[in-house]
Formats: sequence, structure tokens, C-alpha cells
Amino acid sequence: MAHTKKKIGLIGGGQIGGNLALLAVQKQLGDVVLYDIPAAEGMVKGKALDINQLSAVDGYDCRVTGTTDWKDVAGSDVVIITAGVPRKPGMSREDLLDVNLKIMRDVAANIKQHCPNAFVINVANPLDAMVFALQKISGLPKNMVVGMAGVLDTSRFKCFVAEALGSSIRDVEALVLGGHGDDMVPLVRHSTVGGVPLTQLIAKDKLDAIIDRTRKGGAELVALYKTGSAYFAPAASSIAMAESYLLDRKRVLPAAALLEGQYGINGYFFGVPVQIGAGGVEKIVEVELNEAEKAELNKSFDSVKKTVEGVKL
Ligand code: LMR
Repeated sequence: MAHTKKKIGLIGGGQIGGNLALLAVQKQLGDVVLYDIPAAEGMVKGKALDINQLSAVDGYDCRVTGTTDWKDVAGSDVVIITAGVPRKPGMSREDLLDVNLKIMRDVAANIKQHCPNAFVINVANPLDAMVFALQKISGLPKNMVVGMAGVLDTSRFKCFVAEALGSSIRDVEALVLGGHGDDMVPLVRHSTVGGVPLTQLIAKDKLDAIIDRTRKGGAELVALYKTGSAYFAPAASSIAMAESYLLDRKRVLPAAALLEGQYGINGYFFGVPVQIGAGGVEKIVEVELNEAEKAELNKSFDSVKKTVEGVKL
């Protein structure tokens, strides 16, 4: 029988990279290659060794390799990019544009050379601009390049709703659209708990506070951690996307995908619901929005557009 074990390349061996490796192994998605630059060799080799030793406890048959050589990443089925600098308290994600673009240029060129058939998920910030640069530099097909943010932002929103109601998170259905910034659009009108609209369950002032906390969810963690940004939830969110691709689950998940006229946007990556399956981004789903929601989405798009205009390829 042909060997069908998948290969997952993780670019960046920091906190998110380590958690991605752990989750990929625990979900037995495939063998993992954890890459970072030579200065971080000990970190990626150490994390790989540590996770491989953990895998004996529960009997996971996926292996992690720590490397500083792109040749080891070659042929990955999925690549997740977390390489880059996180923001510090008081900074915006946009402040990272220049420093992270420099890193992305190198990463995207290597992906083009070594992983031309991969489904590539970008996590680096400013997210919507970085995924734009990634696709332009790598030249990978538009359906094979996405940004991870909507799953994370939606997960935060759901978490705060469940906390406010004291209800199970399983019954919360919600959606956050737009760019990964302070203008993101939690779609209250489309959100429910156990099928009941959120607006019937939570008073307006409480709901507004939840929306605000969701929009600033990343900054809240940056302020707490002080030397880095969130890593557990971003890793879980990225793995949900990778899993949907690798297992052809065809889940509909919010992600930054290249829009070509949908939502009135052309040529930009922007957070909208997409179907992810073996064909990568197989479908872009258009949500019917009222005038107020459209206005909020346009505001979010204006912010993304402004950042992307600063991208010098
Ligand atoms: C997040 O939302 O947690 C990430 O984008 C990191 C950040 O800087 O907020």
C-alpha cells in the first residue's frame, strides 16, 4: 500500500509553533517538521525531541523533526507560518508590517521553491497584509493560500458569550467577519445559543462590551503576557483549518481568503466564511448583510486596504 502519511511544515518554532506541533501530533494529522532559523536551532530540536518523547505516553505515531534547513520542509502538504515578531504592549499589529514583511519575503520564496503544492496558512501579523504578500511572492494558487484569524476571532467571541451566559460553548454559533484588527465585525444578528438569537439572551450593553472585548482580544493577551502574544488559541484555530484540508472535511470556517468581487472587494485577502477541503479554499460563502453590517465591513476593509497599500513587494 502506498505511504499516505501527510507532512506538515511549521515555519517558526516559537510558542505557537510548539503548540501547533503538539496538536498536529495529538490529532495524528501527519509527521511534523518544525523549522526556524539557525539561531533557534536548539529551540526547534528541543521541542521536537520533547514532543516525540511525549508521544510514547499515549502512543501517537507521528514524528516531529526540528530543523533549520528548508530541504527538510520540502514537499509538505500543509505549511503554517508563524515566523515573525509579535507585538509588545501598546503596539498595533500594523506596527509589525516592515519587520514581518522582511521575514515573509524569505519564507514565501522558500515555500515557492520547496513546497509549491502545499496548502499554506499564514498566522503572522498584520495578518491580512502578510497573507497578501505571501501569495504574491510565492505565486501559489489563490485557493491554496489563506490567513488564519476568523476562526480565532470567532472562538474568542463564542468564549465570551458562553461565559456571560454560563452556558456550554458547544451551543454557541457565531461568526466574526472582516480584517484581523480592531474593526473586525462580530455578526450579532447571525449569532445564536442553542438556536436562540443572541440579542434575545444578552442585554445590549453587555453585548457591546463582549463585541469590544472580542475586537481587542489579541491586545488583551499581549498586555497580560508582556513579551509575546496569544499562542494556544491561535494554534488550535490554525490546526482546525489544516485538519479540514487534510481530511477533506469541507468545514465552513472564517478565513482571510483572496476575494475577487465577493462582498464588493477585488484583489485583497479579507476575512469571510470559506469552505476548506481537499481542494483548499473550495468556496467563498457570501453572507447577506444589512446596511449597518455592510458599513461596518467596509470600515474594516478600509483598514486592511490601507495596510496592504504599505506592502512593498
Ligand atoms: C491575536 O489576535 O492574538 C494575534 O493577532 C496576536 C496579536 O498581536 O494580537
